[in-house]
Amino acid sequence: MKILGVSGSPIENSNTDRALRLALDSTGMETEFIKLSDYEVAPCKACLECVKTNRCVIEDDGIVLAEKAREADALIIAGFTPYSSLDARTKAFIERLYPLRHTHGYMAGKPGGAIITCAIPPGNEMLPPACETGINSIKYYMLEEGMEFVGAVRVLGNVPCIKCGQGDECKMSAVKMIYGPDKMVSSVEIATFEKQPEAVEAAIKLGKDIAERLKSR
Ligand SMILES: Cc1cc2nc3c(=O)[nH]c(=O)nc-3n(C[C@H](O)[C@H](O)[C@H](O)COP(=O)(O)O)c2cc1C
Repeated sequence: MKILGVSGSPIENSNTDRALRLALDSTGMETEFIKLSDYEVAPCKACLECVKTNRCVIEDDGIVLAEKAREADALIIAGFTPYSSLDARTKAFIERLYPLRHTHGYMAGKPGGAIITCAIPPGNEMLPPACETGINSIKYYMLEEGMEFVGAVRVLGNVPCIKCGQGDECKMSAVKMIYGPDKMVSSVEIATFEKQPEAVEAAIKLGKDIAERLKSR
């Protein structure tokens, strides 16, 4: 049994990456961690050539990644939320799994999970539901392919404005948008996955639950 984990975060050893690695390690099974920024994956061009061949006509790394997904027994997809929706690398990867659909449903029945790091804390109805939007993008991919959606992990991340150097002067600062007009960069704590017990527990649970599903087959 092998579980494939795919991270769309381009940041080195990011919150997203670490949450994904913990979920993979918690399976106790053979795993493979893929960082999409190490690969070239264009989005689907909707030509439908893959319908007959189950292979994409775009000759980039999307071919090899789709093959890894087809061979894996389970899949965990991890992304983040620029402009409060799923990041483009993760979305392009998902689109490039389309060749696995027709007419066999190669992903159908496999357990899957989602991990999303977003900078918008939950519970503020004036701000976009970034985490839920990201998770739904992954969840509905999995459900549309007939996969078993096992669970989701929500990680609080950091707005780029806390490290860009202009976060206090910039009139577009997301620090003020998220935390209030009086907030300064120095008053915002750096969000770290390991300091978020709910997220850590959810990542461990996701890994264990996926392993359970696979063992019970
Ligand atoms: C260009 C850009 C725009 C962003 N916009 C949002 C946003 O609208 N909402 C949000 O929740 N996070 C936003 N983020 C923050 C990311 O979700 C955040 O950087 C996340 O913590 C990255 O996760 P990582 O540390 O695992 O890479 C944005 C990040 C970038 C780079």
